[in-house]
Amino acid sequence: MKTVTLLLSVLAVGSGSAETTCTNRRCLANMLISKGFLSQPQYENCTQVIHVPFIEYQTLSVDTKNLHLISRLQALIIWNDPELSWDTSVYQYDEVALPVSTVWTPDLHVINGILTMEHASNDLLVLSDGTVKHNVTINAEINCEINLFNYPFAGDECPVAIQTWSSEGCGTQLKLGHLKMVDSSHGDWQTENVSLENQGEGRNYIKVSLKIKFTNPFITLLLPSILIITADVVSFALPLRGGERNSFKVTLVLSFTVFLNILNDELPGDGQCSPIIRTHFCIILVLMVLSMLVSMILTRLAEDGHLFFYCRFKQSVQKDTGHKEVKDNEESKADISVIQLNDSHESIQVLRKVVAFLEGLDAKEVEIEQRQKFANTLDHIFFWIYFICGSAYSCAMTYVMVEHKCSVNHFHFWY
Ligand SMILES: *[C@@H]1O[C@H](CO)[C@@H](O)[C@H](O)[C@H]1NC(C)=O
Ligand SMILES: *[C@@H]1O[C@H](CO)[C@@H](O)[C@H](O)[C@H]1NC(C)=O
Ligand SMILES: *[C@@H]1O[C@H](CO)[C@@H](O)[C@H](O)[C@H]1NC(C)=O
Repeated sequence: MKTVTLLLSVLAVGSGSAETTCTNRRCLANMLISKGFLSQPQYENCTQVIHVPFIEYQTLSVDTKNLHLISRLQALIIWNDPELSWDTSVYQYDEVALPVSTVWTPDLHVINGILTMEHASNDLLVLSDGTVKHNVTINAEINCEINLFNYPFAGDECPVAIQTWSSEGCGTQLKLGHLKMVDSSHGDWQTENVSLENQGEGRNYIKVSLKIKFTNPFITLLLPSILIITADVVSFALPLRGGERNSFKVTLVLSFTVFLNILNDELPGDGQCSPIIRTHFCIILVLMVLSMLVSMILTRLAEDGHLFFYCRFKQSVQKDTGHKEVKDNEESKADISVIQLNDSHESIQVLRKVVAFLEGLDAKEVEIEQRQKFANTLDHIFFWIYFICGSAYSCAMTYVMVEHKCSVNHFHFWY
């Protein structure tokens, strides 16, 4: 009996010492893990408030062709679960690290895009009062219909709508704090400003102001288009005859199509505010082809004096020459008969023929000159019309491209 009580007392002392020795941090962690709280903190109020005191925002890239904004967010999230608290008189620590998978963590969504949320670390921090602190990284591909109307002087604001799950009074509610932007310049786009905005009813979003850096598109697209149209205007200095100018203009039109291709590769298809530069290029192409066609027609006019009814003209020329041959034959026949009659009479006839031939030559030259003069006058008139219209158009287009504002509703997803 004595031995039994002794054994019992030894056991009691042993178990007591075991309980008191295991108050280190690891045992605390084990104690918290063993609770297995994998569901969200749930008390009388079914809604759990999640504090996000700090968000770091970074624009990774902007896909101009597909109108996607790819960004990365790092957020510190803090929430409170009283059941994860402990008595600091037993476990004398203020905080403990727990593996992320052993406790519940809230889920952040971006509703206007595709998102992957990752835990920034494998562990999170639990404080003695049940406060849980954790960092998450969010990689989001935002679908944003960026207003490219003024491309390459475009700029717009894209919302990144952050939400958490909540349904019928249950779930989580976000309380956002500060937002900081890091590394604002990437590729052709510059992130100018980010700010946290709210549209009521938990509709929080980050307003990202983007602006295109116009140097690159200006050099690759706008400047060449200006230079080519200038070359087209200056090519009126080339002579109309010989077709030299026409081949030059064809070359210009062909080289312009290269830039049309670049434009097509870089910009999206039609949208609410599709870039005006597309229309601009289209108009330039039409103007250049028009000037090429007019040049061709005027060349033709300078060479032949006729534009249309080419076949009829050719036929009449053939008829004329045929008629002449007959005449010549008759005349030579006459000559032969004259030779037999009178020598002096013959020489007069020859002289007359020579004079007639020379006169015809003169008349022809005068006619050619007149044709060319006419064609050149038309060319000058066309040049001035082209020049004035082109200049007026350039001014108008520049004004529209820089000044006109087109607005896009970015909040279609909140209907
Ligand atoms: C629950 O808490 C949220 C956030 O504090 C509050 O908006 C809501 O009204 C509360 N609901 C109830 C039923 O108390
Ligand atoms: C979260 O990240 C911030 C900045 O990187 C860091 O200062 C903080 O200690 C992190 N907190 C946790 C709980 O990981
Ligand atoms: C950024 O946007 C906020 C809110 O619209 C504004 O108050 C702030 O002045 C802006 N900052 C800059 C540098 O434009």
